[in-house]
Amino acid sequence: MFLADIRFCTEENLSQVLELDQFSPHPWPERVIAGDLRGGRVSYLGAFAAEGQLLGYAALGEERGGALLMNLLVSPDRRRLGLGLQLVVAAAEFAADMGFSLLSLRVRSSNTAALALYKTLGFRVRATQQHFYSNGDPARYMLARLPLSLRALQ
Ligand SMILES: CC(C)(COP(=O)(O)OP(=O)(O)OC[C@H]1O[C@@H](n2cnc3c(N)ncnc32)[C@H](O)[C@@H]1OP(=O)(O)O)[C@@H](O)C(=O)NCCC(=O)NCCS
Repeated sequence: MFLADIRFCTEENLSQVLELDQFSPHPWPERVIAGDLRGGRVSYLGAFAAEGQLLGYAALGEERGGALLMNLLVSPDRRRLGLGLQLVVAAAEFAADMGFSLLSLRVRSSNTAALALYKTLGFRVRATQQHFYSNGDPARYMLARLPLSLRALQ
């Protein structure tokens, strides 16, 4: 496992987030990310290398009064090093600190890597939302109770 420096991204990290987002299967518009980093309703937790390189991020927002993990991305050359796991754990910690007792997310049924990661952390599929994504793909709606139980990782 590579232990990253996990901290909140700010406006100063915009170019790094955009650069990394090129590797996202579904990149977000620059104006959306810029607005969030300027102090919008979505918080970006970044996983940084010692030299300051952004290796991954998790975007945390709210939906209907609950905490929602809106995005998760790790640089392709740094995958399977535990960074995704560290980012979701950090996002869950932050959500719990804010008083949320549940963390939800949506993931494409075809995204086996993300599904495996979320299941490892105790997320469970609560519903399938047909035609959720713009291309008609269904979403798995997953939920975990906070604080996360990390027993599965031991
Ligand atoms: C999904 C993603 C964030 C995982 O990040 P990562 O840093 O590689 O994940 P981790 O190294 O923390 O993996 C933790 C565990 O998740 C599971 N996992 C992660 N990637 C996996 C894969 N490709 N296949 C199977 N299991 C996988 C494994 O159980 C893994 O533990 P192990 O490596 O000890 O076997 C990364 O693949 C990614 O950025 N994908 C593209 C964006 C995306 O799909 N985001 C999710 C949107 S909902």
